[in-house]
Amino acid sequence: MKILNFGSLNIDNVYHVDDFVQPGETKKSLSFQMFPGGKGLNQSVALARAGADVYHAGKIGADGQWLVDLMCQSGVCVTAPESSDSLTAFALVQKADCDTGKAIIQVSDAGQNAIILYDGANQTMDHRFVGEVLGRFGKGDILVLQNEINRVPEILDSAWDRGMRIALNPSPANEVIRQCDLRKVRWLLLNEIEGEWLTGKKEPEDIAKSLLASYPDMEVVLTLGSQGVLYQSCEKKCYQKAFKVDAVDTTGAGDTFTGYFLKCAAEGESPERALMIASRAASIAVSRPGAAVSIPYWDEVVG
Ligand code: RIB
Ligand code: NA
Repeated sequence: MKILNFGSLNIDNVYHVDDFVQPGETKKSLSFQMFPGGKGLNQSVALARAGADVYHAGKIGADGQWLVDLMCQSGVCVTAPESSDSLTAFALVQKADCDTGKAIIQVSDAGQNAIILYDGANQTMDHRFVGEVLGRFGKGDILVLQNEINRVPEILDSAWDRGMRIALNPSPANEVIRQCDLRKVRWLLLNEIEGEWLTGKKEPEDIAKSLLASYPDMEVVLTLGSQGVLYQSCEKKCYQKAFKVDAVDTTGAGDTFTGYFLKCAAEGESPERALMIASRAASIAVSRPGAAVSIPYWDEVVG
């Protein structure tokens, strides 16, 4: 069983401010750092550091090779399975005509973040590339998707046609997600804002119930920030409290959770244990600066 993550790679430009900039205000940043990021990259790094066999497909510009290096150092595979053919290298470098995706991130003293995204190469997936990548995977393999690249509904449909099991993190939640056939999604990992956007419900229990009424085969994993996380399928419902930590930078906490949860779920761990391990991993990531670089390895989480 292989895991394919088809997702974004961003250069995160992180500015530390005491509190977020208000309209019309100019503020000095207390520090500035560039980090590897993007929901796709973060989730692949989390999966790999958790010990999963993960392949990443995505695109970068000429300025993004260091992002691929970080993924490789973490154990993510960026070439096609059973192939050293560089033509089928997954993370394709797009020279000159395209920038790597960018994020401008304000991190406040409280560890919260506010993000502006620039898509760049993340919006350059084409039909042929999608076909070439998915052609290497099949029945029983897992596809992990977020919503920071183009062609998400197409990728989801083709993976389904190939018999893959699908995990979707509908983030950011926008009209593209409405074009996705969510009946094909086995694991839906989302936060409350995305849950409310999808269902119109506010309460976590109502969000999960509403999703399961429409998609009975789904496993819903609803992250509730410092409140913890709710898991619900038609067979089981469980809840995990968040571990208390001093938040330094919450960027990528959800991605860390997603990667760790999916690694456990893929190995058939119980939802209770998957939630516990993933929550612990996310709490460690939150206590350190940066997104992907702050994601712990399995031994640090499970010990
Ligand atoms: O989920 C966190 C990520 O969202 C950041 O790394 C940033 O790149 C944005 O995509
Ligand atoms: Na962090």
